[in-house]
Amino acid sequence: MPVCWLNGSFVAEQDAHVSIFDRGLLFGDGVYEVAAVVNGRLLDADRHLVRLSRSLAAIGIPDTQPTAVWLDVMQQLATQNGVHEGLVYLQVTRGVAERDFPFPAQVVPTMFAYARPKLLLADPNAAGVRLLTVPDLRWQRCDIKSTSMLAQVLAKQSARAAGAFEAMMHEDGLVTEGGSSNVWIVRDGTLCTRPTSSDILAGITRDVVLEIAHEAGVPVRERAFTVTQALAADECLMSSATSFVLPVTRIDDHTIADGAPGPVTMRLRAAYLARATRLTQ
Ligand code: PDD
Repeated sequence: MPVCWLNGSFVAEQDAHVSIFDRGLLFGDGVYEVAAVVNGRLLDADRHLVRLSRSLAAIGIPDTQPTAVWLDVMQQLATQNGVHEGLVYLQVTRGVAERDFPFPAQVVPTMFAYARPKLLLADPNAAGVRLLTVPDLRWQRCDIKSTSMLAQVLAKQSARAAGAFEAMMHEDGLVTEGGSSNVWIVRDGTLCTRPTSSDILAGITRDVVLEIAHEAGVPVRERAFTVTQALAADECLMSSATSFVLPVTRIDDHTIADGAPGPVTMRLRAAYLARATRLTQ
């Protein structure tokens, strides 16, 4: 029986309950993180927890749980649930209070986390995925990893309905990011991705890919690109904690280059997997 963690205790998932007055449920008033588990161990969880603190500060939820406690909870969830390879999800909401939009005076944040197995190293999607372009309907603080994600739900549903793996969101033709990933192109050997700002989430995987690219001597340009430039790119790729680095071989009904995963993409993916394996041994 899967075990989750809720407000300080490990409990069977089926026994974990949250109030209907939780502001996460009422307003999407919360933030979250997703970290990978490889070889039964957390990958880059410390970086995810730094971003969690940033998200909490941005929306004024007290950051009460020490990093060491989160790390222990996350690791225990992977271990207790036998998750050798997969994900740990964690969420913090503002808490339970009578429904009123401004922050309640006395409120204790709701915190929970759970683990799930997922194939990451041998992901079949490494053969290449298709993205569907959709308008980015979100707000102006996409740097906050908020649980208010109706725009992404709609974007990713459109992608799934069209048989695509992920959405590629754009503002008037300028690519922002994937529905739950960052997107990149390669042009003449240079890796290109949108610079971080309040327009996108600063992906932890994105950061690591930038580091790996620098180490591998792959030129990088943090610069916004258009859907048209993506269609004409030599390679396209996406990154996230749930998919690491995946080649994008089609966008809408257009095939990228010759339709095969590109060499820079596969080099970055291989380096990412090698690093993940090394750090979790
Ligand atoms: N999403 N951009 C958005 C909008 C995201 O939701 C995510 C992650 C990313 C990639 O960030 P990272 O590399 O830190 O995973 C970029 C998670 C995986 C999710 O919602 O499931």
